[in-house]
Amino acid sequence: MTTSPRARIGIVGTGAVFPAYARGLAALPGLPVIRVADLDLERARTAAAEWNVPAWGGTEELLADPDVDVVVNITTPGAHADLTDAALEAGKHVYVEKPLAATTEEARRNLATAERTGRLLGGAPDTFLGSAAQTARAAVDAGLIGRPFAATSFVRSSRAQTWHPDPTFLFKRGGGPVLDWGPYHIAALVNLLGPIRRVVGATGNAELEIPVTAPERRVERIDVEVATHATSILEFTSGVLATAVYSFDIWDTDLPHIEVYGTEGTLQVPNPNHFDSPVRLKRRTAEEWTEVPPVLPPSTPADATGFYRGLGVQDLVGHLDGDAHRASAGFAFHVLDVLERLQDASLADGVAEIASSTERPAPVRGARPVVG
Ligand SMILES: NC(=O)c1ccc[n+]([C@@H]2O[C@H](COP(=O)([O-])OP(=O)(O)OC[C@H]3O[C@@H](n4cnc5c(N)ncnc54)[C@H](O)[C@@H]3O)[C@@H](O)[C@H]2O)c1
Repeated sequence: MTTSPRARIGIVGTGAVFPAYARGLAALPGLPVIRVADLDLERARTAAAEWNVPAWGGTEELLADPDVDVVVNITTPGAHADLTDAALEAGKHVYVEKPLAATTEEARRNLATAERTGRLLGGAPDTFLGSAAQTARAAVDAGLIGRPFAATSFVRSSRAQTWHPDPTFLFKRGGGPVLDWGPYHIAALVNLLGPIRRVVGATGNAELEIPVTAPERRVERIDVEVATHATSILEFTSGVLATAVYSFDIWDTDLPHIEVYGTEGTLQVPNPNHFDSPVRLKRRTAEEWTEVPPVLPPSTPADATGFYRGLGVQDLVGHLDGDAHRASAGFAFHVLDVLERLQDASLADGVAEIASSTERPAPVRGARPVVG
């Protein structure tokens, strides 16, 4: 007996991140990718052949395909907003890679289009839906570190110039460490600690021209148009104060990805770009760090090669079926709103109030509580 799909997926953008979606969605029940599209038709054709997708072509064909229920927009950030609007107008639900759009102005337009068309909009990252982030969340909720009062959040270079065939977009508006990596960190922090109400920061650049050394590169050099080093203080509505450094200029560091400090101990949260690494805890009274038992099974197979994406698409489809919407457009908008302030922050500007807010997303269904 074949079961009917929960939703049929069309993916626009068959670049570097596409295999993560093809792999990730194939591992989730009832979310078949039935069509792919790209500006570069040859890239779409090759991706369809490699990942057994039955149809491929241009974006207009994909949006006109009545069999596509959900459009997954994994184009480059500067293209997100127009494509999201067009897909919503075509009657599709849309899940978009991070950032939700290159600017809050564009994202606000997308939110209005979703509202008007009655279609659902969700956005990356979805890593906070994975086992590690949900375990950290359960640990905080169980009071294992007492009352959280501070956090740190550090991003070093993803070294995209050494592996991405065309990392130009990472150094233009909509990219930079703040909008490229910041979404993983801010989403993880807001999931743990709630919304952010004020930020202050400063930004700079160590280099203004980036040589590309990736073996399959399509460009040789990139002129940098965004800050590649940002340092900031975030004040959460709860009063928690976080220190953040988001940098493409720092090549190496031993600083932790995320730590949360509470009155009773410290929680170390693994790389928020990954789903499944251990969450470590050191309580005030303890001699050693311990691992918090995972509250969910691993989100990627133990023998996984390459990384996986798709939980956010599953979350959007789950909401259509009545579950909570966690990787929602409202959540992604708040994350973008915070990051936009950090992107161009300067000490001379002083403190920026964050106009938007969001609820902490509901814990993922099936996540077990951690016993304190
Ligand atoms: N590369 C990664 O490791 C990675 C990881 C996580 C998230 N992301 C996010 O995924 C998105 C895509 O990143 P990428 O690295 O795959 O970029 P990429 O440049 O490798 O691929 C983007 C693809 O989108 C196509 N495209 C661009 N504009 C288009 C349009 N208007 N219509 C149709 N197709 C269009 C391009 O031709 C290209 O094939 C970005 O938002 C990025 O932040 C990337």
